[in-house]
Amino acid sequence: MYFNKSIFQTKLIIIFFSLLYASVSFAKDSEKFINGLIQKMTLEEKVGQMNQYSSFFDVTGPPPNDDNAKHKYDQIRSGLVGSVLNVKGVKEVRAMQELAVNNSRLGIPLIFGFDVIHGYKTITPIPLAESASWDLKAIELSARFAATEASAAGLNWTFAPMVDISRDARWGRVMEGAGEDPYLGSQVAIARVKGFQGTDLSATNTIAACAKHFAAYGFAEAGRDYNTADIGTSTLHNIILPPFKAAAKAGVKTFMNSFNELNGIPATGDPYLQRELLKGAWGFSGFVVSDWGSIDQMIPHGFAEDGVHAAKIAVHSGSDMDMESYHYVKHLANLVNDGKVDIQLIDDAVKRILTVKYELGLFDDPYHYCNEKREKELTFQEDCTAAALDLAKKSIVLLKNDNNILPLAKKNLHIALIGPLANEKNSPLGSWRGAVDANTAISVLEGMEEYKGNKVNYSKGVDLTVGETSFIREININETVRTGMDGAIEIAKKCGVVVLVLGEHGFQTAEGRSRTVLDLPGLQQELMEKIYAVNKNIVLVLMNGRPLVIPWADEHIPAIVEAWHLGSQSGNAIASVLYGDYNPSGKLTMSFPRNEGQIPIYYNHKNTGRPDPSDMVFWSHYSDESNDPLYPFGYGLSYTSFTYSDLDVQSSNETNQVTVRVTVTNSGDKFGEEVVQLYIRDLFASITRPVKELKGFEKVGLEPGQQKDITFVLREADFSFYDNRGRFVFEPGEFDVMVGGSSKEWLKYSFEF
Ligand code: GLC
Repeated sequence: MYFNKSIFQTKLIIIFFSLLYASVSFAKDSEKFINGLIQKMTLEEKVGQMNQYSSFFDVTGPPPNDDNAKHKYDQIRSGLVGSVLNVKGVKEVRAMQELAVNNSRLGIPLIFGFDVIHGYKTITPIPLAESASWDLKAIELSARFAATEASAAGLNWTFAPMVDISRDARWGRVMEGAGEDPYLGSQVAIARVKGFQGTDLSATNTIAACAKHFAAYGFAEAGRDYNTADIGTSTLHNIILPPFKAAAKAGVKTFMNSFNELNGIPATGDPYLQRELLKGAWGFSGFVVSDWGSIDQMIPHGFAEDGVHAAKIAVHSGSDMDMESYHYVKHLANLVNDGKVDIQLIDDAVKRILTVKYELGLFDDPYHYCNEKREKELTFQEDCTAAALDLAKKSIVLLKNDNNILPLAKKNLHIALIGPLANEKNSPLGSWRGAVDANTAISVLEGMEEYKGNKVNYSKGVDLTVGETSFIREININETVRTGMDGAIEIAKKCGVVVLVLGEHGFQTAEGRSRTVLDLPGLQQELMEKIYAVNKNIVLVLMNGRPLVIPWADEHIPAIVEAWHLGSQSGNAIASVLYGDYNPSGKLTMSFPRNEGQIPIYYNHKNTGRPDPSDMVFWSHYSDESNDPLYPFGYGLSYTSFTYSDLDVQSSNETNQVTVRVTVTNSGDKFGEEVVQLYIRDLFASITRPVKELKGFEKVGLEPGQQKDITFVLREADFSFYDNRGRFVFEPGEFDVMVGGSSKEWLKYSFEF
């Protein structure tokens, strides 16, 4: 068939300009509509758009009778509320939307937000787990399905992705992020924003995303939640900000600021972060929502005198919407009328908020997310469940497998399945569990019972005491109930292999869940040692929301599988890996410390002036522990093995690019996937650079004996960094390139660029 290139090119140009025209005309229409609406609004109605409440009554029931809730109810009816969070389900959302649209003077629709952190009804692996898959397509798909289920339930906004980098496993919220590396964190942020927002925000299966918590929340001192973050410019610009900047560049529609102070200024009241950087240098056109009550918390921070002062600081600093501190709705109008806040600031915030509502299609039809038929059809779809299972398998990290005890034989085995998490259907759902019904995860026991060829004997062994929800503080019970231990030990004695499922309950991680000791909570360590005493053929399955300190297990237990909190399909994914139907391919995205004294511990550390071991004490080390983590960033084993060869690096000053090639071979006897990781090192610069920095990765599947050449192209920006004035600079010089299967094993090539 004759191909006419010029006709094809002409068609491309027509398509390009028609899309450009469409987007420009959409922007013009939106601008015209919103400016027209703002002109009609009273000052109180404008401030109302900046006010967000959490759902406080059964919207489908009678009006609330307690004063606070009744006051909020009345404010919604009078157009003094712009958004509500924690309303879920089409019926409730529709009822709440009708309250606003049918009663307020201008009928401006509410925007409904919710923490869709790792799934809505179908729960996927916690973000720290899914980041260990290093599979950006699977991560984007996970967000896509989460948006599909959440939007089908009437929601239009999720408070995700959480993109806080952290190097401190004591902080319970590491479960919500993508680990310790800014490059991987940025790629995951982009994938999640794309998954949530899709290509058309007005579509009924997409929702606005929210990059949070801006900024440095993950650097809370001592890993204690909400604690002070005091860091240098280089760490701020080179480690903390990149994932936020990547999310902004990916078009995220909202940001959420953070509870912590950063270098003496609470993020909520920091104009450098929210105005100069985010809305200024980065050109962010969406809106910033405060975190829950963070405007009010500037008072205990010692940064605001009272609520009036807090409202003034926050609006000057670029916080557009006030989540649950009530100070905007109480004080902003008076501050404007008293000449203390310029109406321009109010109009800018309101314009940002109304633009997102417009883009969501809420002005065309405030109820277009509210379709009960669609809610039924799009919840628990088969392909959503399949995607959740796929991602759960890919998130599992094989930490140890001495004598190839794994995978287990599928028949004629007598297995002792022991541990407080072995038959758990609630814990695997993790914290920040969306709108899932409790106790609906597939347990390890259920997953293993699908394999009929073996006999599985289950025993809980010990209890794991937690609060009823992830927000209720468990009472500090010193576990004393040992009665189950004897039964577990008896079973272990009689079986050929023990599968021991231990770790943290899902409710022992996330917000407000900082720990100083990162051991196996309760009596689990004692149970493990007693089981080991009667049967050393143990596979330890860890279920946890953060790196744990498990040196005894690493020394004694022959096989260790990191299985996080994997969500609804947890037990099926774990069984599939234990029996070898899925060859584990996950790689850690956060270092596991040998003990808490090493924290903060991370792979992209600086070299210091005394890095080299010596017989004397005058070098950077501990007298009682190694400097190295127990398991490093990027680490994960497979049931097969991979070898790296023929590393070739070509740098070109003409193209200003460096091309890196390496050959990866599956040198084992099973199909497996390998995450090929590319690191660089800048050997000397005007500010010290890390001993290595991740700058690329590719996950490849290889059959036994199969080889593949992997190519990375690095550009000047990949070798650049932010100096202590926040300037992005490139300094020519000597560099190392390292390529391998973890941050600890690689081939290295040195060159000038
Ligand atoms: C919380 C969290 C934030 C969440 C918000 C709404 O306190 O810090 O991540 O999105 O409140 O639930």
